[in-house]
Amino acid sequence: MSTVREILVIGGNSGIGRSAVEQLLARGNRITALCRNPGDLHGLGIEVHPFEAEDTGALETALPERLDGVLYCPGSITLKPFHRTSEEDFLKDYRINVLGAVRVLQAALPALKKSDQAAVVLFSSVAAGTGMGFHSSIATAKAGVEGLARSLAAEWAPRVRVNAVAPSLTDTPLAGNLIDTPEKRVAAGKRHPLGALGDPEKIAQLVVFLLSPAADFVTGQVIAVDGGISGVRTFG
Ligand SMILES: NC(=O)c1ccc[n+]([C@@H]2O[C@H](COP(=O)([O-])OP(=O)(O)OC[C@H]3O[C@@H](n4cnc5c(N)ncnc54)[C@H](OP(=O)(O)O)[C@@H]3O)[C@@H](O)[C@H]2O)c1
Repeated sequence: MSTVREILVIGGNSGIGRSAVEQLLARGNRITALCRNPGDLHGLGIEVHPFEAEDTGALETALPERLDGVLYCPGSITLKPFHRTSEEDFLKDYRINVLGAVRVLQAALPALKKSDQAAVVLFSSVAAGTGMGFHSSIATAKAGVEGLARSLAAEWAPRVRVNAVAPSLTDTPLAGNLIDTPEKRVAAGKRHPLGALGDPEKIAQLVVFLLSPAADFVTGQVIAVDGGISGVRTFG
C-alpha cells in the first residue's frame, strides 16, 4: 500500500480548513477538496470538486478509491435571541453542520474502510458544551456533531477513528463580524482565560495530529481548543 495518505477536506478554501490543507500538503499527504468556493486551492495543485453542504441526496462526486482521512469544516455562526430564531434557522444550521457531514461520511465510508489507519475529524464549538446566550441554534447543531462523532467512533472502531475539535472564537472569516474592529478583538480576547482569540493555524495543527497515525489511540473525543473558556475560572 502507498505511504502517501489520501485526505478528503471539505471546506478547505478558508480559515482552519485552509491552514490544515497547507499543513497536510507540507507533510506529504495527498488532498482532495470539496468546496463551494475553491478560492485559490487549484493553485496548490490539488483536486477540487464543488460541494454545497445544504444540498440533499447522495454525494455525486467521485472520491478517491482509498481515503485515510476526512476533515469536514463547513460551519455557521447564527447568533440570535431564541425568540427570533426560526425553525428555518435551526434547520439551516443542522443541514450545514450535521447533515452535510453525514452525506460526506456515508459516501466516504467504503474508501475509509480500505485504509489501515483511517481518521475523521469534525468541528464542534465551545457553544455545544458551555451555555452561551444567543447560541441556541448553532449550539444545538454542534451538539449533534458531537453525538455523531462519538457514535461513529463506536460503530467504526477499530477501523476508523472519529474525533471532533471544539474551538472558541477563532480569527477566521466565519467569525469576521464578531471581531471586525480592534475594540471587539481585544474584548473578545479578554473573555478567554488565556487572553486571546483562537489562531486557525494552531487549531489546524491539532486537526493534522488527529488525522495522522500518531493519534492512533485517540477516538470518540471532543477536544476543546478554546483559550480555557469552557473549563477555567481565573477570578482575575
Ligand atoms: N471561527 C470560529 O470562531 C469558530 C468557533 C467555533 C467553531 N468553529 C467551527 O470551525 C469550523 C471551521 O470554521 P472556520 O472558522 O475555519 O470558518 P471559515 O473560514 O468560514 O471556513 C468554513 C468553511 O466551510 C465552508 N462552508 C460554510 N458553509 C458551507 C456550505 N453551506 N456549503 C459548503 N461549504 C460551506 C466555507 O466555505 P466559503 O468560504 O464558501 O464560505 C469554508 O470553506 C466550522 O465548522 C465552525 O463552525 C469556528
